[in-house]
Amino acid sequence: MILSKKLSEAINAQVNAEMWSSNLYLSMSVYFQNVGLKGFAHWMKKQADEEMEHAHKLIDYSIDRGGEVSIGQIDAVPTTWEGPIAAFEHTYNHECHVSELIDNLMNIAEEDKDHASRDFLFWFVREQVEEESTAKEILDQLKTYGECHVAIMDHKLGKR
Ligand code: FEO
Repeated sequence: MILSKKLSEAINAQVNAEMWSSNLYLSMSVYFQNVGLKGFAHWMKKQADEEMEHAHKLIDYSIDRGGEVSIGQIDAVPTTWEGPIAAFEHTYNHECHVSELIDNLMNIAEEDKDHASRDFLFWFVREQVEEESTAKEILDQLKTYGECHVAIMDHKLGKR
């Protein structure tokens, strides 16, 4: 059974979304470098790499299942934030949005009764739980302890 056209197209859109996410976090990494927060920058660079891995995972799966892969244009990403809290608020909200996109892919796989795709997509469902939780934890710590905590967080995030 090959992928339905609808699911194949939705996976292409998700590849684009993951690449956009990668650029978003790369842009945040550059922003943090520029404001002297090397640990935050390191964390965001790792995050950008992970997002690109997600894109590759989707591409490989689509090819394996006879989908039609096409790499589209990636929209521009923001380049500046008010500070670490604003950047992590953006990160958390963005990950919640990505979770909705993954749920939508899963809905299509369910409509198609495509059990292989459901099985494949569960990895992303679980990954999103972790992505949201990690971003929320860092955001909560920044909000609770305030700007004086930024140096400690910078050291901690640099160990990712
Ligand atoms: Fe690929 Fe952060 O979701």
